[in-house]
Formats: sequence, C-alpha cells, structure tokens
Amino acid sequence: MSARVNGVGGSDEFDGADEVGRAVEVLRGGGLVAFPTETVYGLGADASQAEAVRRIYAVKQRPADHPLIVHLAGSPQLDDWAIDVPDDARRLAELCWPGPLTLLLRRHLAVDATPAGGRDTIGLRVPAHPLALELLDRFGGGIAAPSANRFGRVSPTTAEHVRADLGDLVDVVLDGGPCPIGIESTIVDCTTMPFALLRPGAIPVEAIETHLGVEIAAATGSSRAPGMLTSHYAPAAEVRLAEDSAAAIAVAAVEQDAGARVELIDPGDDLLAYARGLYAWLRAADEHRADVVVAVLPPPQGLGLAIRDRLRKAAAPR
Ligand code: TXA
Ligand code: MG
Repeated sequence: MSARVNGVGGSDEFDGADEVGRAVEVLRGGGLVAFPTETVYGLGADASQAEAVRRIYAVKQRPADHPLIVHLAGSPQLDDWAIDVPDDARRLAELCWPGPLTLLLRRHLAVDATPAGGRDTIGLRVPAHPLALELLDRFGGGIAAPSANRFGRVSPTTAEHVRADLGDLVDVVLDGGPCPIGIESTIVDCTTMPFALLRPGAIPVEAIETHLGVEIAAATGSSRAPGMLTSHYAPAAEVRLAEDSAAAIAVAAVEQDAGARVELIDPGDDLLAYARGLYAWLRAADEHRADVVVAVLPPPQGLGLAIRDRLRKAAAPR
C-alpha cells in the first residue's frame, strides 16, 4: 500500500515517508485527510474540533444539518461517544466491528454536536481496513468522515476518484488502492425498539437478523433520513434501470435509436463484483461522456438490496 500526500507541504509525494504519521498531524492541526475504508473512501477530520468538521461540510458542499459518521479505532471507545447503549447494539458492535456496520446511538453529552449535524444521536463505526485502522489507532480520537465525494455525487472507491472530486481541498490523501467492498456501510438505528434499518449496505440486513438474532424494522417515513434523499449517488449521465439483461438491451436500443450514447451495467450474478465495481462504472460512464447508463438491477436480497438502493437513487429525478 502506498500513500500520497498533497497540499499543505507543497511536495506531492513523500517516498518512504511516514504518511500515516503526517496524516495524524494534519488531523490534529484541524486539516482534512481522505482515507480508504473497506466500503468507500472517507473525508476525515478530528470529530472533536468543530471548526475542522465544518471544513468537511464546506468542501463537500453538504448541508450543515446532514450528520456524519464518526469512525473509531475499536469498540472500547463506544462509551466515549454514546450513552444508553442497548445490549443488542453492543453485541452488534462486538460481532461486526471492525466492519461495514454503522450504529446510530444517543450522543454522549460531552461530544460536540457538529459532526452529528446538531442531532442528539451519533453514527459510529470501526472500519475494517488496515490503513484506516492504523490512522485511527495512531490518532487516538474519533474521525468524522462522510464519503469523500461532493454532496449528491457518486462515492469514491479509489484515491484517484477522491483527487478527481476534491483535488487540493484535501490536505492528505492516503492511498490504499481500490476499496474491497465498494458500497457504504449498513446503518442501523439503535435508538428505537426494534432497531431500524436506515440505509441498506455492505452487511446484509438478513445477516444481522438471522445470524445475530437482532430484529431490524424498516425505517419509517419520518426516520432520520440518512442518505435518504431521493436523488443521490448520481453520475452526470441519466441512469435507467432494468430488471434483467433482455430488458436492459431493449431500453438501450431505444435510447441509441434516439441518438444517445449508452453504457450498460450488467455484471451478472456476482454481487460482490457488482458492489465493488458499481461506483467506478458510473464514473467511467461520465468519463466516456455517455448520455445514458442502463443498469440491470440485482435481486433484492443480501448485498443486492444495497446495490438496488444506490441504483434507485442514481436513477431518481434530480
Ligand atoms: O461506509 C460508510 O459508511 C462510509 C465510510 C467512509 O465510512 N461513510 C459514509 O458516510 O457513507 P456518508 O456521510 O456519505 O453517509 C453517512 C450517512 C448519511 O446519510 C447520514 O445522514 C447518516 O449516515 N448519519 C450519520 N450520522 C447520523 C445521525 N446522527 N443521525 C442520522 N443519520 C446519520
Ligand atoms: Mg456519502
């Protein structure tokens, strides 16, 4: 794994330097560090510095009431950030962390409200990526980090995606190669009984219910609406959805007849490969100046549920 450092220091690359050490210094100084996780790249700031967290909102052009996930080095830190943690939430943390599960809990009174977008809850997760864990370990505190893309756009799954979106607005980009999962964490609201699924993601909700024995309800309409804006994760190209390959080819043919440049996303039955590739394919379609992307929806089980959610948001009216 190599790391690249931009911005602040002037020089572009520090061969053999301690890039993680430098990233820790940047965080302590109130700067922004993009780092890989197993899901997507995050745009991180010290969660305890309101001014640093406000920089994230500014760089992403994200509304200030849209809360961020705070990343931790391990589950022992849970109680520094949350109160009234239900036993089942603790079990989920023990079983799934490090991993792509975000738990929504009641915010500890000592925790600054800025990363939580002013809410009395806080989203917490321990990412399963060696570079992220090294950064968190050495930093010691919580790192507030949304996906490192501009608000509403496709999440980055490589360091190149981050640089293309945010360029010099980020002080350090740690490069851990392509993200192994490629789709964001599952978010479970643990402040309601039963718990509620706020965002389907990399850990299938069925796995949480069956293997971990914790009941999860669908989020209600009045839910706290994380990533639940209708249009999100969208490329510049228009996205059209199809239930199977034959339907996708038919849609593509109609679009092509109308003179559109069309790209097809039809990766077959391997849901892991679909998740890992999805955001890169959507970005590639924009690079190729496609007018329309036609994507075949995977079945709505397991990882398929999260992929369908992202595709629907990419296809939603803007
Ligand atoms: O996999 C992931 O979760 C990635 C990596 C970087 O960890 N992060 C990510 O962050 O997807 P972001 O900000 O793009 O999406 C986090 C979602 C947002 O939709 C936000 O609304 C929701 O989590 N969220 C975070 N804290 C919340 C809170 N206190 N209440 C309600 N929703 C919250
Ligand atoms: Mg995001």
